[in-house]
Amino acid sequence: MSSFLSRAALAASSIAVLILSPMNPVLAAEVVDTHSYANSAEVRTTHLVIDLDVDFAKRRLKGVTELQFEKLKPDADRIVLDTRALDVRSAEASADGKAWAATQFVLGANDAVLGQSLTVSLPAGATRVRIVYSTKPEATGLQWLKPAQTAGKKQPFLFSQSEAIHARSWLPLQDSPAVRATYEASVKTPKGLRAVMSAEMSDQPDAAGRWTFKMPQPIPSYLIALAVGDIAFQSMGPRTGVYAEPATLKAAAYEFAETETTLAVCEKLFGPYRWGRYDLMVLPPSFPFGGMENPRLTFVTPTVITGDRLLVSLIAHELAHSWSGNLVTNATWEDFWLNEGFTEYLTYRLTEAQFGKARGDMERIIGVASLKTDFALAKSDEDRKLVRAFPAKDPDEVFSSIPYERGALFLVWLESKFGRETFDRFLRSWFDDHAFQSATTPQFIAYLNDKLLKAQPGKVSAAQIDAWISQPALPADAVYATSDALTKVDAGRDAWLAGTTTLDAIGAEKWSVQEWEHFFEGFPKTATAAQLKALDTRFKLTGSPNAIIASDWYKLAIDSGQAAALMPQIEAYLGHVGRMKLISPIYRALAATEAGKAQAKAIYKKVGSGYHPIAQQTVERILKGS
Ligand code: BES
Ligand code: ZN
Repeated sequence: MSSFLSRAALAASSIAVLILSPMNPVLAAEVVDTHSYANSAEVRTTHLVIDLDVDFAKRRLKGVTELQFEKLKPDADRIVLDTRALDVRSAEASADGKAWAATQFVLGANDAVLGQSLTVSLPAGATRVRIVYSTKPEATGLQWLKPAQTAGKKQPFLFSQSEAIHARSWLPLQDSPAVRATYEASVKTPKGLRAVMSAEMSDQPDAAGRWTFKMPQPIPSYLIALAVGDIAFQSMGPRTGVYAEPATLKAAAYEFAETETTLAVCEKLFGPYRWGRYDLMVLPPSFPFGGMENPRLTFVTPTVITGDRLLVSLIAHELAHSWSGNLVTNATWEDFWLNEGFTEYLTYRLTEAQFGKARGDMERIIGVASLKTDFALAKSDEDRKLVRAFPAKDPDEVFSSIPYERGALFLVWLESKFGRETFDRFLRSWFDDHAFQSATTPQFIAYLNDKLLKAQPGKVSAAQIDAWISQPALPADAVYATSDALTKVDAGRDAWLAGTTTLDAIGAEKWSVQEWEHFFEGFPKTATAAQLKALDTRFKLTGSPNAIIASDWYKLAIDSGQAAALMPQIEAYLGHVGRMKLISPIYRALAATEAGKAQAKAIYKKVGSGYHPIAQQTVERILKGS
């Protein structure tokens, strides 16, 4: 632990120094990743060759991972990798792939968050090592689904989720976003099941029955992804298509048919798409996130398939990561806002460009509402900053909408200062000048200073930038969107609650999901049983096929103390959906009272084994009250 703290202190001090002196190139080059054991300043992975055998019965991957590397320190005699709960059988080394010979390896002590280091000795001349290993059923980066948890109900399913530091639970590698490597892979699946990865792939296995993959662009480890199951494909456009279970494929292809256009819109704004194809992989409902921007193959929750194409800003978000995140990558997890804040800003711009300003503004307002919620939930001022002074121990534990929405608001504010045209040119050059590189917040500030602030002196001060990034309070001059549609929703809700209008008169039958979200967002916790009943009767909220509306409704019913009659439906919902953004608010609302907490614990005991390991940890934290 002491080494963790000292590295953390070092990182914090270099951020502080750099903010004071943004152009210092010596410090700018020094990236300290407190979430990785890797000695990547000495030996740096350049290419991976991954071979996996998928064993559903034992819930494990048997693997051989080869790492090709360059030595930044010529006399380095070891490579240090990250692992978590891997059974490491052997390690071998080779010079340029010639004769492999066994080499020594040592697994370090286990840390609950970081896992174990794996130090592999490098004989003189070695340029590659390979590790023979298997994963454990509890690998935090994998979810193994029973057939009952899939749409088809007949075949099992497996998917990975590597971000932030879970790649190490299924691949021994330098698990830091500051390290980029190309990869190739081959995956053996049970008969009839297909494997897909975040890479170029073909629609047939090779002669040996293995699915093969190639990712020619260098990517950070958190973007390596795998899914295995009864997976079919449907094309949507020249560069876009969707993978899903056969039972889900048609609805998914309809829902996401506008993706090809979004891709073109994004290219027009932010430069060429550099990854070849852009496909989607629709996962079963236990996928713990809305989406994950795995390159060439975004993973997406089925809970956005609502038949009305209204939740596709999720796709715009994951697509936008092809610029902010995958092309220019946060160098450490403290710089997470460089991925997510930028991407959220890009998403609003894409929504506006493709679907009009009114829809873009509605989404911005909903984003700000989630920022306000997470500001209130934050345990300390440290969590409210865009970049904390000291790295958090566990990136999963501090995950919130703050880097997303505060980050986006920061960029909106910069846009307002310099004008859209100038700011767009700036953003585009940020992506071009840092393509296929990782970047730190100080590097961004230095670039901002150099390209924008210095060119137009007096517009924005260093203190203002610092307030956005390193101070807890939101700057008072943040620029917020307004929306006539959402103002009407407010008026309708408030008038109905005050008894001055009827439910039929508020226009809700024509509301989009965004209007419903806003309706629930502003709902007081004091609504009466009769009011909630009237709402449910009129709009059939209980059991709504729209998972977002259902989640908001159940939360409201629980918050108002009116959920007793709905518990069977709430339990069914929590047993079906595993997306954290939808289930966490329900668990949190239940946990607010002692009786509710007991109910939540009982439900979790029944359904929790169906959640992804990351979702299990999140719910357990809520129920423990930490
Ligand atoms: N990269 C994130 C998901 C993520 C973040 C996974 C951190 C693990 C650790 C992805 O791009 C994302 O932001 N997903 C959001 C989408 C939303 C903001 C449109 C989600 O899942 O809710
Ligand atoms: Zn994202």
